[in-house]
Amino acid sequence: TILILDFGSQLTHLIARRVRELGVYCELLACNINITDLKFKPKGVILSGSPYSVYEKGSPHVDPEVWKLNVPILGICYGLQEIAFTHGGAVECHDKKEFGHADIKIVEESKLFEGISTSMQVWMSHGDQITKLPTDFRVVANTDTAPFAAVENVTEKIYGIQFHPEVTHTALGKVLLKNFVVGICGAKGNWTMESFVDKEIERIRVMVGPTAQVIGAVSGGVDSTIAASIMSKAIGSRFHAVLVDNGVMRLNECNEVKKRLTEKLGINLTVIDAADLFLGRLKGVSDPEKKRKIIGNTFIEVFEKEGERIELEIEEDIKKGTSGNRGKIEFLLQGTLYPDVIESVSFKGPSATIKTHHNVGGLLENMKLKLIEPLRELFKDEVRAIGTLMNIDEELVWRHPFPGPGIAIRVLGEVTPTQVEIARKADYIYIEEIRKAGLYRQISQAYAALLPVKAVGVMGDARTYEQVIALRAVTTTDFMTADWFPMPYEILKKISNRIINEVRGVNRVVYDISSKPPATIEWE
Ligand code: XMP
Repeated sequence: TILILDFGSQLTHLIARRVRELGVYCELLACNINITDLKFKPKGVILSGSPYSVYEKGSPHVDPEVWKLNVPILGICYGLQEIAFTHGGAVECHDKKEFGHADIKIVEESKLFEGISTSMQVWMSHGDQITKLPTDFRVVANTDTAPFAAVENVTEKIYGIQFHPEVTHTALGKVLLKNFVVGICGAKGNWTMESFVDKEIERIRVMVGPTAQVIGAVSGGVDSTIAASIMSKAIGSRFHAVLVDNGVMRLNECNEVKKRLTEKLGINLTVIDAADLFLGRLKGVSDPEKKRKIIGNTFIEVFEKEGERIELEIEEDIKKGTSGNRGKIEFLLQGTLYPDVIESVSFKGPSATIKTHHNVGGLLENMKLKLIEPLRELFKDEVRAIGTLMNIDEELVWRHPFPGPGIAIRVLGEVTPTQVEIARKADYIYIEEIRKAGLYRQISQAYAALLPVKAVGVMGDARTYEQVIALRAVTTTDFMTADWFPMPYEILKKISNRIINEVRGVNRVVYDISSKPPATIEWE
């Protein structure tokens, strides 16, 4: 394991991504953790960047025990400055701030730069820099403005770089990180998804024990499907998956999910048709946040009820002596991914409140369920890799994200069954054409929204007065910012024709050309 200590940089999670890509397991923790509390012995430590200045009062610092771990340490940007600051060097605000590309010259042979020639294009982003070399360190690389772009103390196994190897703009950043993680720390690249799944199944079996049971909601998305599949492989029918049909899923989706989970993956699944309940509660509501709240609360209520029903059923079976090896429900499955974990453990400064994971509220409290999160160590692409390994349909593995409140936030204004049908049909055609054109994987998220306006049109000889469909397609890596996708005109033409001809109630189609920010990906 490589330990990454986070000083609050936006880029820290990328360091974790890059280390994982090398096949090396890493954990990211806040910079100010107590080193003696660590539950593992790291092979090496990476100190991240930070928006702070090391010399400022109140700036974050590591537990000095970290220097006594006697394992290699690599400081990146602020991490380097922290090394200098704590080892007798000096760090100051520099009058020439460095942002963007820079060329570094490698002036000494170093294990860190093995396989890299005498210069390297890097990405810099700093206002402070070292002005005095820390004791017993030597300079390995510099730039025209930063004389200490890379420094090292080989005896103490401490390395520091001013630039960011974790961003793709640093072309050879991956080579450098590999030199550190594999070459210098000697970490083994044995973090593969095959080994992960086997180990996780074993871990779940031990954790759940021979009789306890697990309940979990599935949405049909990639995360919950894979989490459920792992559970099912671990404990078979002692895992109860619940799919709540909220009436605002996509066209045919509920049936497809049911088929995939039960027939293909053999998961013990109950589908609850609660469409009328959800749509009934959404009647007359047009405020987006109210819609979200209603759907969220109703979901918890329905899921909780199902939990109680299964619990009663089991108690009956236990009384009758027909339960076999099945005991009580003791665990709740959640599809939490590593970015959520990072979000809750990373360093956020003195005033930060730690985000609490949203979980299935009431159920957890009443039934005192313990959480099981099989994917909590994984990034999305690692989850996808597992999906491929487990022979889960390619189509699902690469599916665009779909929001919990579903089509309800894509029918603008009031959600009625008729409006949902229109939005569903248009969305189905849209996605079908995107797939046919081979563009699905290039787009991060695409959907059709039904606008709450009417427009005049003409069909045959008659005047029409009908609704408008807005098509959205974006590309993004993190969903925090997004660009609109330049959909080819030919494809747009086909989609527009099909929607207007095939979906009754629509006489206009428009394409959304807003990026995020200032727009958001969803319309509501
Ligand atoms: P926005 O619209 O905020 O969306 O740019 C960013 C990403 O989040 C998804 N999204 C949601 N997902 N419940 C969810 O589970 C929600 O209420 C919700 N709102 C937005 C959205 O689809 C996009 O992927």
